[in-house]
Amino acid sequence: KKVVLAYSGGLDTSVIIPWLKENYNGCEVIAVCADIGQGDELDVVHDKALASGASKVFIADLTEPFLEEYVWPTLKAGAVYEGKYLLGTSFARPIIAKALVEIAKQEGADAIAHGATGKGNDQVRFELTVKALAPNIRIIAPWREWEIRSREDALEYAAKHKIPVATSNKTYSMDRNIWHLSHEGSDLEDPWNAPKNDMLLISKAPEDAPDRAEYVTVDFEKGIPVAVNGNKMGAVELLTKLNDIGAANGIGITDIVENRLVGMKSRGVYENPGGAILYYAHRELEYLCLDRQTLHYKEGIAIRYGELVYDGMWFSQLREALAAFVDSTQESVTGTVQLKLYKGNIMSAGAKSPYSLYSKEFVTFERDEVYNQADATGFINLFGLPLKVRALMKEEAGLK
Ligand code: ARG
Ligand code: SIN
Repeated sequence: KKVVLAYSGGLDTSVIIPWLKENYNGCEVIAVCADIGQGDELDVVHDKALASGASKVFIADLTEPFLEEYVWPTLKAGAVYEGKYLLGTSFARPIIAKALVEIAKQEGADAIAHGATGKGNDQVRFELTVKALAPNIRIIAPWREWEIRSREDALEYAAKHKIPVATSNKTYSMDRNIWHLSHEGSDLEDPWNAPKNDMLLISKAPEDAPDRAEYVTVDFEKGIPVAVNGNKMGAVELLTKLNDIGAANGIGITDIVENRLVGMKSRGVYENPGGAILYYAHRELEYLCLDRQTLHYKEGIAIRYGELVYDGMWFSQLREALAAFVDSTQESVTGTVQLKLYKGNIMSAGAKSPYSLYSKEFVTFERDEVYNQADATGFINLFGLPLKVRALMKEEAGLK
């Protein structure tokens, strides 16, 4: 009777409105659009939902909580999917689905619908979040039910139902928010095709970036970025600033053939200039502030954390437990990192922290008073004992 729909204003989600009414006996459709910095004109989206037949529209302003509650924890974990993808779409789905659930409860809705296809990761992420937060609500995924197979089919359906369509001839399947922009499909479906420069909508191509390096500093408090070039700012302003600086220097363009959760490999190009700077800077500070075994242990956690985020397991027991571990490690990740940006490259240009474990006194090549080189003899004897015992055994047994 009442369905809450994840609405973007695009062709697919606009067509879903009349389709739901037609196929779920005249149900009421409530459109929910989460603003997470995708840069769309939200009053246009609002009016379009109504023009497409929604009974009500909610625009949820979630950009700041998106950064503070989803992006920063993932940044602190250092989580990157398959060594390259900064998870920009992955962690956007749980916050959108959470908003859907809240509005569904408030409006007494019977079902939640989304416009993700049956071939992708997004359907999994939306639905796992709904299951975690509203275990009994029904989920409708039109792409898995309807006959629409292509953009042409969708346009035809829209025309038949008098749904307004913007005359865009988008080449790529894109997803955008304040953290990233993804491009998939079209010529990228052949992994031998290099991405075209003119597809970039945020970053400059490296060869078009200035011939002079730009320096930027980022301050962190307990692993969270709080200032750029010495100016304190809130999450949204800070990332916007770093996106601008990074984009001008061709930073953060990633091209990957990734493993989707649903089995196939897919090719994507991502633009995340500010994100690339933040990941690099955060890691630089950890080099100073985390001891060897914590740093190494955390590298393993980062991989698992990234899989959980990618797989839509945001609201899982394991993700929450790993986040608690990560937060404990971040207690001392406070300080300032300077980076040099040059034509798509990020380079270290200094780091400092009141909690730095780096000790010049201990490491110096000059004469020192604190480190007794003679101690190393006993250390190496015991550390190497298993190697020595094995070599003796091989000699005795006549093994090579
Ligand atoms: N492959 C990326 C991911 O799974 C990006 C997905 C983009 N989604 C979209 N609806 N265009 O996270
Ligand atoms: C989609 O299928 O809706 C986009 C791609 C993905 O979810 O991985």
